[in-house]
Amino acid sequence: MKQHERYVVAGGRRLEGEVAISGAKNAALPILAAALLTAGESVIHNAPMIRDVAVMIEILRKLGARVEEGPAGVSGRTLHIRADGVSSLEVGADFTREMRSSIFLMGPLLARVGKIRISYPGGCAIGPRPIDFHLRGLEMLGARIEERFGYIEASVPRRLRGTEIYLDFPSVGATENLMMAAVLAEGTTVIRNAAREPEIVDLQEFLNKLGAKVRGAGLDVIRIDGVRRLGSVEHTVIPDRIEAGTFLAAGAITGGEVTVQGVIPEHLDAVTAKLREMGVTVREGAGSVTAIGPRRLKATDLKTLPYPGFPTDMQPQMMALMAVADGTSIITETIFENRFKVADELRRLGANIKTEGRTAVVQGVRSLSGATVECPALREGMALILAGLVAEGETEIEAIYHIDRGYQNLEEKLTRIGAVIERR
Ligand code: EPU
Repeated sequence: MKQHERYVVAGGRRLEGEVAISGAKNAALPILAAALLTAGESVIHNAPMIRDVAVMIEILRKLGARVEEGPAGVSGRTLHIRADGVSSLEVGADFTREMRSSIFLMGPLLARVGKIRISYPGGCAIGPRPIDFHLRGLEMLGARIEERFGYIEASVPRRLRGTEIYLDFPSVGATENLMMAAVLAEGTTVIRNAAREPEIVDLQEFLNKLGAKVRGAGLDVIRIDGVRRLGSVEHTVIPDRIEAGTFLAAGAITGGEVTVQGVIPEHLDAVTAKLREMGVTVREGAGSVTAIGPRRLKATDLKTLPYPGFPTDMQPQMMALMAVADGTSIITETIFENRFKVADELRRLGANIKTEGRTAVVQGVRSLSGATVECPALREGMALILAGLVAEGETEIEAIYHIDRGYQNLEEKLTRIGAVIERR
């Protein structure tokens, strides 16, 4: 991780062209963890070449799995994973601090080897992000869990046992963690009020190709009939709907015309509906979506919700669009408590944004002007790039290691459609 690297973006270019979308970060991460469930081989296509995936591969190797990385491709690379020799059971603070998602190693490792010691993942820039649903669900499946010295120590006396679990909130990570734990449990597990994100459907497909018996993903009740053992699998990760949405936003904010290729348009419905409300022309093809930006965007209101509602992972980018739209927009963030940090940075570029608790009021301005800003987190960093694309002069964006966590070949993809962006 190069802490000092920055992006320098020159504003005022209209973006035009096609962008190939990579495999989804938030589908690839749980699928990589799920590869620990089997001694067989997992062949995973379109694993995006991003920092979070690299960290997950490092963790898998540390746990004793063999991971071979295929050649780089536009939508990611193919990974061959064999976790027949999983032995080391500790995930230290160096990993959990860098990537919270390492929490969902708990489900697969408890199911497969019955023991794990994992450093307690802390909060992060978007909120405290507790893990109580994960731990409570695993306990209901029969795991013994102790929290001490900053570590969670979990073990399973014999084998996990299927049970009924109700989630107080449809948490994406908890749904995935518990699905993975339950596939090797004895009997049937039912997860109620489960998250319905497309990434959960992708995980179900991966697990079922391995020989698991999971149904219901995409709905709010998921049923898992436990099996004794799993086999081998070949799977292609779904396209990244958030990366796609971000590039459509780039077309929209620059008054350009950007087509994202290799996507599932339906996964983008909430985002494209909002873009249309803002005056963007959206055209859907088979596996592609085009956004044509107007001369000036229109203000709109937005509320983040679990899928199929508007994704919180597109909220900061939409704030950048609203910052230069005609009129006043209101954002209500219902998923994370603290996801308005980018407002401070956008204000440095001349935006007029007020935040109060879970609400942000964005009064659109005629123009932004370049300045030096700092990424508070991943999607927030992308919001700053979007603002930089239309700000007068140059915008310097610091702490871009956050962006490297989730966007493959970002500057190449942006440059190809006409942006002037440089990593320094
Ligand atoms: N929550 C709890 N207790 C829990 C788990 C979650 O209170 O045990 C709360 C969280 O604090 C939050 C809400 O439930 O307020 C939703 O969190 P969720 O568990 O759904 O989020 P996550 O699994 O931690 C994933 C994505 C995030 C994305 C969210 C929401 C991955 C690896 N991460 O996180 O992605 O924002 O779902 O859609 O899938 C990103 O990619 O930039 C990113 C942050």
